[in-house]
Amino acid sequence: MLKLFGALVVLGLALAFITSWVLDSYDTAWHPKRSIRHPSASDGDGPKGSAPPFPGDQLNNIFWFVQVSDIHISRFHDPKRTPDFERFCTHTIDVIKPALVLATGDLTDAKTESKVGSLQHEVEWQAYHNVLKKSRVMERTKWIDIRGNHDAFNIMSLDSVNNYYRKYSANQKVGSFHYVHTTPFGNYSFVCVDATLTPGPKRPYNFFGILNQTQMDLLNKFRAESLTSNQSIWFGHYTTSTIVSPSPGVRDTMRSAVAYLCGHLHTLGGLMPVLHSRHPHGTLELELGDWMDNRRFRVLAFDHDLLSFSDLQFEQWPAVLITNPKDAQYLHPGLEPLGRIRRSTHIRILAFSEAPIATVHVSIDGEPLGTGRAAGGPLHVLLWDPSRYLAGLHTITVKVEDSAGRSVVREQHFTLEDTLSPSFGFAQSFILLTDHYILGRALFIFTVFLNVGVLIAFRFLHVSSSRAFFSQICVSLHLISKMDLFYYSLLMLNLCTALAREPQAPAAPLTTIV
Ligand SMILES: *[C@@H]1O[C@H](CO)[C@@H](O)[C@H](O)[C@H]1NC(C)=O
Ligand SMILES: *[C@@H]1O[C@H](CO)[C@@H](O)[C@H](O)[C@H]1NC(C)=O
Ligand SMILES: *[C@@H]1O[C@H](CO)[C@@H](O)[C@H](O)[C@H]1NC(C)=O
Ligand SMILES: [Zn+2]
Repeated sequence: MLKLFGALVVLGLALAFITSWVLDSYDTAWHPKRSIRHPSASDGDGPKGSAPPFPGDQLNNIFWFVQVSDIHISRFHDPKRTPDFERFCTHTIDVIKPALVLATGDLTDAKTESKVGSLQHEVEWQAYHNVLKKSRVMERTKWIDIRGNHDAFNIMSLDSVNNYYRKYSANQKVGSFHYVHTTPFGNYSFVCVDATLTPGPKRPYNFFGILNQTQMDLLNKFRAESLTSNQSIWFGHYTTSTIVSPSPGVRDTMRSAVAYLCGHLHTLGGLMPVLHSRHPHGTLELELGDWMDNRRFRVLAFDHDLLSFSDLQFEQWPAVLITNPKDAQYLHPGLEPLGRIRRSTHIRILAFSEAPIATVHVSIDGEPLGTGRAAGGPLHVLLWDPSRYLAGLHTITVKVEDSAGRSVVREQHFTLEDTLSPSFGFAQSFILLTDHYILGRALFIFTVFLNVGVLIAFRFLHVSSSRAFFSQICVSLHLISKMDLFYYSLLMLNLCTALAREPQAPAAPLTTIV
């Protein structure tokens, strides 16, 4: 009895320890320890945190850009996907007029008709290319399209004829690169992380991306270069949780970025419509839902070096983005000059619609403040007094109406306290911050042990068969393990898959259960 009690206590303590460790490692609220560059930026009254320029009533110190991901142009499925995408390139881009567009991978679907196999189809790439050409989107904005895992299926080498990305994309660059967007008020770095595999294996073996040491060294070089920019954004196809990289890992390498933009997980089949989290160093990881089924896209803005964004739905106007005061959930006190919000004179809102914007109503904590005034382009501004909101979390609500009678309400929290940044949901953080290949490896090793264990057990143990159903399985397992040909070939197969892997390749849990 006492022993049992003792065992329960030990078990309870172990569980409590594990739970607190898990909760701690997925705690994504802001901590001052996350601060890395510009220690003064986190100090609101320091030189950078509250140095001018301050957000006011002019269309200045601001630019905005767009992300779209997982387009999956397909010759077999969803015939509206390509025409919708063409309308996105013509109409949506015309309305928003972004400084640049990031298309973060899986430009084409590259699947067989049954959806099971994978194959590069030249017609899909031609369809993608035709959309870019017919819409002339590359003349109207900077179009940066990168590869996703689907764009690298079944490609033996970068020079192979079916590497259509080389021929039909706008960017045509393989490998990571650093692009600097230059404006009169500052320089902004965009660093692409290309973790797609070369040679590209078939489905499903490139669910994970890999960066080797050479590629990591290049990314480190880009990070060092980007330190002279006002802000940097990193982007790629894979979430950091699906990239295998040498220690200290890809999240550490991108620690000077205010955000990492990616796709790849779509919305996990609708389970996770929003996948956002924060890395240990403070970088935001913002996965974007797919174009393929959900027609998602994202508008982001740097307004006075503060990043804000809004995840939107194709053809739903008006589209609204509140850039000052920015959303409390996505503050990066280590890198953003948050003191500027406290010293701003105006609330700033970007409102886009196909019809002219009629009114922009603003209220804070339920109290109407007035209507915004057009300040040029999509920018609307409204005078405010930030000193009324210095403590705690507040809610800003903006209702935008266009002249076609459509309206949308956007509501977000804001705070003027630097350290009050809410945590992200546990599920989101678990999906984005876990190195899933390590889980995969554990599962793989477990599977191999199980297979080998079962084989050996049935060869050497005497099996007493009693219950009807189990006895059938047991008898066949027993037979297989007693026949040398089967026994040794299955054993070898298991051991070979376990041992003869590429040193860095993630383990694909092969199901070779007899
Ligand atoms: C960008 O950085 C430069 C140099 O540090 C600075 O003068 C400029 O004000 C910054 N731009 C903005 C919008 O903060
Ligand atoms: C931006 O980069 C250009 C070219 O590298 C440089 O001349 C300029 O001073 C930079 N501007 C700022 C604000 O850092
Ligand atoms: C790293 O990967 C790149 C691109 O796949 C390849 O060209 C390079 O040889 C690799 N380097 C090492 C050290 O494996
Ligand atoms: Zn995809």
